[in-house]
Parts: sequence; structure tokens; C-alpha cells
Amino acid sequence: MSKVNIKIDGKEIEAKEGQTILEVAEENGIEIPTLCYHEQLSQTTSCYLCMVKDKKSGNYIPSCSSDIADGMDIEATSDDIFEMRKTTLDLLLSEHSGDCEAPCTLACPAGIQIEEYLRAARKGDFLETLKIIKEKLPLPMSIGRICPRFCEEDCRRNVIDEEAVNINDVKRYAADLHYEDYLEELPELTDEKVAIVGAGPAGYTAAYYLRLKGIRSDLYDKMPEPGGMLRYGIPEYRLPKDILDTELAHFDKMGGIEVNCNQELGKDIELEQLKKDYDSVLLAIGSWSSRSMHTEGEELAVGGIDYLEDLALNGWSGKDPGKTIIIGGGNTAMDCARSAVRLTDDSVNVFYRRTELQMPADDIEFEEAKEEEVNFKFLTQPVELREENGKNILTCIKMELGEKDASGRRKPIPIDGSEFEVEADTVIAAIGQNTEAPEGVPTNRWDDIEVNEENYHVQDNIFSAGDCVTGPATVVEAIGAGRQTAESIAAYLEGKEYERDYIINVSRGHWQSLTEDELVLINEPVERERAHLEYISDDKRINTFAETNKTLTEQEVIEEAERCIECSCSYKEDCQLKDYSEEYKAHPEAMVGEKVLFDYDMRHPEIIRDPGKCVRCEACIKVCKEIVNEYLLEFKDRGYYTNVGTEFGKPLPTDCTECGECIDICPVGALDWKSTKR
Ligand SMILES: Cc1cc2nc3c(=O)[nH]c(=O)nc-3n(C[C@H](O)[C@H](O)[C@H](O)COP(=O)(O)OP(=O)(O)OC[C@H]3O[C@@H](n4cnc5c(N)ncnc54)[C@H](O)[C@@H]3O)c2cc1C
Ligand code: SF4
Ligand code: SF4
Ligand code: SF4
Ligand code: FES
Repeated sequence: MSKVNIKIDGKEIEAKEGQTILEVAEENGIEIPTLCYHEQLSQTTSCYLCMVKDKKSGNYIPSCSSDIADGMDIEATSDDIFEMRKTTLDLLLSEHSGDCEAPCTLACPAGIQIEEYLRAARKGDFLETLKIIKEKLPLPMSIGRICPRFCEEDCRRNVIDEEAVNINDVKRYAADLHYEDYLEELPELTDEKVAIVGAGPAGYTAAYYLRLKGIRSDLYDKMPEPGGMLRYGIPEYRLPKDILDTELAHFDKMGGIEVNCNQELGKDIELEQLKKDYDSVLLAIGSWSSRSMHTEGEELAVGGIDYLEDLALNGWSGKDPGKTIIIGGGNTAMDCARSAVRLTDDSVNVFYRRTELQMPADDIEFEEAKEEEVNFKFLTQPVELREENGKNILTCIKMELGEKDASGRRKPIPIDGSEFEVEADTVIAAIGQNTEAPEGVPTNRWDDIEVNEENYHVQDNIFSAGDCVTGPATVVEAIGAGRQTAESIAAYLEGKEYERDYIINVSRGHWQSLTEDELVLINEPVERERAHLEYISDDKRINTFAETNKTLTEQEVIEEAERCIECSCSYKEDCQLKDYSEEYKAHPEAMVGEKVLFDYDMRHPEIIRDPGKCVRCEACIKVCKEIVNEYLLEFKDRGYYTNVGTEFGKPLPTDCTECGECIDICPVGALDWKSTKR
């Protein structure tokens, strides 16, 4: 065969006559993406992902079906070609219907592979369950008790019976059972060392994932014991501190993480010194200053977090607060009220300036507070606090709702002349917290620490994460940020630029917009009500700080995990469309248009066909015809509606040899074994 001389991306290549540009590129290590090309099959040229530029003619041509010619000069890698391939992928994604990732995982700020851990739990393998959880979250015993459950809000099980899978209580069970047995593989420690100021969830999480990379850290905290708000904010009855102690003891066991308490930044330790002594410094100091009520006499009230901190320092005991009024409608207000209830027989009252519907507290917190006989007064705002004969006199004004404000909620407006007075022994102002950033560290307009949002970098070798960056948020958000910051610091120590992973996700939509027919259900969903935790007796509940509810039993956990309908694409690990889309930074919403909603086909006992995911590459049809010598698959319909089908739309015949060639060759998850799931 005669030789042909061509250039690809400036590289002089001697190739064989009759080869395609793609073949020559592949032989010479030049990567060109393909979806529809297969060496052993006839060529279709349908995906157009392999386009390259013929520099002499200026034409763009598909490399998989264009033969080389002597003197050809081909551009396979350039900004133009990148953009062209990205557009091709944008188009493919725009008509693609599936769920790369399960909605629960997408909703979790820590990104835990929930569907996978439920699968392990269903099999009774709770060590594996915990292992999957700890890949993204190192504090599962705590989170299993106090997470607001973002994942459950988006859980697709809601479509079946309006009750999400009880995801978090499965986590709690696995963590309680195995936390002390589970030991991760630990690499040898390097010489690099990071100072972490703040031993709360963000600080501990960063220390954990740094340790998994062999990087040591020293944690510094101003309080006598570590844990941050897990110890000094969240009350004992929701998160017992012996559980927290067990959880934190594991970090000591790992080695390479040292905790130094009673060390306050700006007093006992200085930022400038830490910057010099360590390779990097992470500020994870939370938001620890109670917000002002801007009310005359407010110094007579105690701040919400200060009240809880005092109780924590006293081992969750304290003096009888007498008649108590708590100002605020958030979770801190609920925790103050429910703690006060446990210490007094007098009335405990929450005053909130908006309505019940607008209360920021989690529903469960509000419900449990009501069960514990906390009283609520809505549309009520304090205007003055004074002391008379050893009693607090609180003047309030009634409010009504006006226009929407910047938060999108209707703004409460005082009603003239509606002032009234109430007497109280204790007034607690639980209206929020602020961050107290160290001097010299840049802050934003909310006084939180300003970071580069891409990599959590502040300045010099300083990084920051958690509440002190976002303002008061949640533990799981602090954990998500702590893990990413550890990645970013590790990259910085290696002298690399940290880039967050670009992950595409195609979604069939939120559960509220879906019907049961639109779910891809391989097996009939298990008919079972959601499992609920058992509460301790009412008497014990309001008279002690004992944990209010008990962990599910093993049987309940297995049965609960069976309620999961497994929402993510079975092919997400191997999908070429997903891989290329991430490489070329394509986006499912880049091109908006109506999607054809094809019915998936479940009629074959072993094989599922999900035409919404098909990219019409024809590979399955050709492999069946050209390799297996069967003619079972064919394109149906025309244009926009074209898709792979069977003769007269009949099910794939059961005498199909089930060789799996079509499944293996499909570049996406349009054909799969049913057994891949469950
Ligand atoms: C009362 C209350 C109840 C809550 N309930 C929940 C809940 O149920 N679920 C949920 O998800 N979230 C809840 N949250 C929010 C949650 O606790 C926080 O979002 C989370 O703890 C933030 O983690 P972090 O590591 O950023 O900060 P923190 O937990 O606040 O930790 C910061 C650490 O830094 C230390 N520190 C501060 N300043 C200094 C300094 N100058 N020098 C040295 N050390 C310093 C502190 O002592 C602390 O240990 C609650 C918060 C409060 C206040
Ligand atoms: S086939 Fe690929 S792109 Fe489509 S849903 Fe599955 S993983 Fe996502
Ligand atoms: S049904 Fe299962 S996979 Fe689907 S969102 Fe709920 S927990 Fe996640
Ligand atoms: S179902 Fe067939 S035509 Fe569709 S993407 Fe898979 S292999 Fe290609
Ligand atoms: S690989 Fe060339 S057109 Fe699909």
C-alpha cells in the first residue's frame, strides 16, 4: 500500500493510503471524540463530533469517514473546533432525557452518593453504607441527627406516595452501628502542615480530607472543647454530646490531626504568625456574634447563642428561666425555646414579626416545639425592653404584611397604636448571628469573609470556609465547603490551580412536575409507608435533655432503604455523552427547545430500552445486523421523532439471544440490562 504524507495539528505524519483521518489521528495519539464510529461496523457519520478542519479548503469534515489524501493539512485541535464540538454536544443534550445523577445526591450540599448507600443498606451491608457516606461526609453520627434533609425534599419517592425515603435515618443507623469500627486507608504523612482556626464542622472536615491526602493539620479553637456549634449551639436533646465525643475521637485516632483548645485567634494566637509557621491557614471560625435587635434596652436580653452556650458549658443544665420570651423565628429560637421548656414550669413564648408560614425554622423544629407546649405569637415585634421591680417589661407592636421585600417575603409593617406590654423573667434575642472576621482579612457587605468562590482562597496562604464565609447556614453545607477547601489547599500546596470538577447533569425534572408513568421503574415500587423514629415519653421529653428520639431498628432500616426507586442513570459511570460533555463543558440547558418524551420499553424480561437517551448513532442496529446476524432493531419514524425501535413496535423478541452486543456498544444509557439496577 502506498504511503501518504499528511499533517495533523502541525505534526508531519506518514500514513497508509485508504486510512481515514480519524484512524491516522488515533495511531498518532491525537485525540478526536467519537460517538457513532466503531471500527468493526460500517460507518454512518451521524454524530458529527469528530469534525476537523481541512486547512487547505477551509472546510470542516467528519474525520471518521474522510479518507486521507497526500499533502492534507488537518486541524483537529483548536478553539474553533472545541466550540463546534461543544455546540454539537449542547444540541445532543438539549433533546436528551434522563437523570445522570439521582435528585437526592444533587440536593445534598456534601454530594453524598445516597442511592448507592441505600443500595448497600438494603443488602444489610452497613459497613459499606458508612464507607460510601464517609467519602463525602466525615460526621455522619451528628448529621444523621440534625441535618435539615435537603435530599429528602427532592426525593422522587414523593411521586409514588408523597413520602420521601427516610434517607437521613438510614445514615444515622449505619453510623451509630459502625462508626468506631470503620478505619479508612491512610497514606503516610508528608511534611506539609496546615493551621485550621475553628474546630467546628468545616474545620474538622477540612482536616479529615487533608489527612486522607497525607497532609497534617493543627486545629485551634477558642472554646474549652472542640465541635463548634455542634457542641455549643445544638442542644443535647437533639445531639447528645457523648455521640459528638465518639465522633470526634475518631479524628484523634487517625493521627496527624492535633486539636488545641482555649486558643483564641487575636488573643492567644496571631494570624501573621500562623501564616509563617504553616504552609497554609484555614479560617473556619463560624458566625459567633449575636445580631442586635436595634431595640432600646436590648442589653437586658440574652443573645440566643449565648443562652445555649451557657447551658452547654453547664452540661446542659441551668437555672429556671421563669416566664420566657424568645424573639425570632429561626432554628436558634426553636432551640432556645425548647431548652427553656426543659428548665421551667412557667410559660415559654416565641414572638416572631412575620407569620407562621414565613418562619425560617425547619418544620420539624416548629412542630416539636409546639408538641412541647411552646407558645407562638406571630406578627409581633419588640420595640423596647426595660426593667421594673426585677422583672423585664417588653413593649411590642403588632405587625401586618405589606409588599414583598428583597428576600421575596412580604415585609412586616407596624400597625400604628397597636403597642402592648408583656412581663417576662427572661428575654432571649435569637434573631441571627454575624461573623467576626479577624483584622486585616477582607470581608463582604454582610461582614462575612470574602473568598474566591472558585477555590475558597482569601489572600496569601489563607483560605476560609463554613459559616464565616456564607453567614449562618447548616452543618452539611459547612462540611461540603470544608471538603472542597481541603482539595483546594492540597492543590495550592502542590503549586497547582484548583479547578472544581465540571459535572453535567441531565434531569427529567423535579418530582413535583413528574407523574408515576414518567418514572423509569424497573421493579414495582415497594408499597410501604415511611419509617418514623420513635420518641421518648412526653414526660421525659420536656423534663430532661435526654435525646428525644431513638435510632431505627435494623429491620426498619433495610425496609426503608427498599423504598428507594433508584433514580440515577445506570450508565453514568461509562456514559460517553456525559464524559465528552464534561470535557467540552457542554450544558443541557444551553439550547432550549421542546423535548420529545419517548416511552421507555420494559417489555423484554432482561433488557430495558430508554429511547429518551438515544443519540441515534445506529450502532445497536448495525451490531445486531452486521455482527450478530439478526435484524431485530431498526430506526422508526422520521426527523425529530426518529428513534430505535423494533418491527411494528413489538417487544424485543424473547428469542433474542441476549448476547448484550447492543448494550455494550451503546455509548449512552439507552439500552441496558435491567439487572444493572437493584
Ligand atoms: C442554635 C443553633 C442550632 C443549629 N441547628 C442546626 C441544625 O439542626 N442543623 C444544621 O445543619 N445546622 C444547624 N445550625 C447551624 C450549624 O451549626 C452551623 O451552620 C455549622 O456549625 C457551621 O459550621 P462551621 O464549622 O462553619 O462553624 P462553627 O460550628 O460555628 O465552628 C466554628 C468554630 O470556630 C471557633 N472560633 C470562632 N472564633 C474563633 C477565634 N477567634 N479563635 C479560635 N476559634 C474560634 C468556635 O469556637 C467554633 O468551634 C445551628 C446553629 C445554631 C446556632
Ligand atoms: S445516558 Fe449519559 S447523559 Fe444520559 S442520563 Fe445517562 S449518564 Fe446522563
Ligand atoms: S428514590 Fe432513592 S434515588 Fe430517588 S431521590 Fe429518593 S433516595 Fe434518591
Ligand atoms: S440505542 Fe442504539 S442508536 Fe441509540 S444511542 Fe444506543 S446504540 Fe446508538
Ligand atoms: S464519529 Fe464521526 S460522525 Fe460520529
